[in-house]
Amino acid sequence: MQAGIEDIVDAVRKHHELYRDALPLIASENITSNTVRTLLASDLSHRYAEGDVGSRFYQGCKYIDEIEEKAIRYAKELFDAEHVNVKPVSGVNANIAVLFALTSLGDRMMALSISDGGHISHSKYSVPAMRNLELETFPFDAKEMNIDVSKMVEVIKSKKPALILFGGSLFLFPHPVSEAREAADEVGAKIVYDASHVLGLIAGNQFQDPLREGADVVASSTHKTFPGPQGAILLCKMDIKDKIERAVFPGTVSNHHLHHVAGLAVTLAEMMQFGEAYAAQTVANAKVLAQCLYEAGFDVLCEHKGFTKSHQIAINVLKDGGGAAVAEQLERANIIINKNLLPSDKDPDKPSGIRLGVQELTRIGMKGSEMKEIASLITRVVIAKADVNKVKDEVKALRKGFQDAMYCFDGKDAYKFPELKLSGYL
Ligand SMILES: Cc1ncc(COP(=O)(O)O)c(C=O)c1O
Repeated sequence: MQAGIEDIVDAVRKHHELYRDALPLIASENITSNTVRTLLASDLSHRYAEGDVGSRFYQGCKYIDEIEEKAIRYAKELFDAEHVNVKPVSGVNANIAVLFALTSLGDRMMALSISDGGHISHSKYSVPAMRNLELETFPFDAKEMNIDVSKMVEVIKSKKPALILFGGSLFLFPHPVSEAREAADEVGAKIVYDASHVLGLIAGNQFQDPLREGADVVASSTHKTFPGPQGAILLCKMDIKDKIERAVFPGTVSNHHLHHVAGLAVTLAEMMQFGEAYAAQTVANAKVLAQCLYEAGFDVLCEHKGFTKSHQIAINVLKDGGGAAVAEQLERANIIINKNLLPSDKDPDKPSGIRLGVQELTRIGMKGSEMKEIASLITRVVIAKADVNKVKDEVKALRKGFQDAMYCFDGKDAYKFPELKLSGYL
């Protein structure tokens, strides 16, 4: 068989067209600036640089050292972190490294259950199983959509976990990190905070600050509310620096992705300058979308506490056919969301909810008035059962004015990135 490349290139082109014309509301995604996209295609993507800045196992790394040193320095400044590692290639990779560093075989660990918002990598199906960890899930208050603080403290004291993992994938409100610190100290537990979903909000000072609240380590992917390239970052205190460093290299990463480090350094610079405005607009947009959907008749969770303090909103859509059916209906109108388990769900294959995240639409410049329009488009599909093709045309029309990443240096009056010639060696 002759393998052709046209079909693949064509599928990528169609994918671009789909996203050009759609409303992406998946809470775990974002887009990078054009500057970062260019760097992701640079020669850095071909290279190896095992080791650390200034002491590599390979020659040819002098500019790579410069780039990685800057990424680390910017991250230290932006997150006020004592120590930073930019090598993990994904959020799960970062979690693997942290558990490798801070647990022994058979230890006990506390985390959120998946239906309460935990990520699969916090569960028995994934990373904890690699260390044969005994999992204790956080007591969760479904009405408040948060961890029950007094019960959590009791469980920490009675079960004496070695590691307490905060953070999650359905993440509406800040987790009780400072409330856990005293009990964690009493039983000698380390506190880890998986900031994958909220890193961009933390960078913009619009969410809790886990390092100041008592976390020993922040592990995070870099491509959800933080609008960087796919990858991850670790922020930690000096007393565990060596353990974390060894667990990353040579523990769980050999060559890190150098093009992603360059992209990360630029995104960190973007967030230093524009992060606060971007993060504040993101949370404001989530609140407007939630309020409008609630007023239109949706069962948006946590109305009594303003629906959300993050980029996400969660809706119980059982009366509209359940999460899977609603997500598929919306996709037919180019509104891209995901079905999601909610705390009440017993059957993991039948989520009663949907999760919406507004960070990407915020990144491309949308504000409250667009959120109102989007709420009306969603309502017409799910509740009014309008013609999806008509709604799709309106989605496309709305997207026309919002095609570029904002809150970055791409703009013509700001910073001109010298064009890299992306062929051969430059
Ligand atoms: C809380 C949390 N941690 C980790 C991850 C995994 O990140 P990655 O896909 O970069 O491995 C996710 C992904 O959505 C997540 O939500």
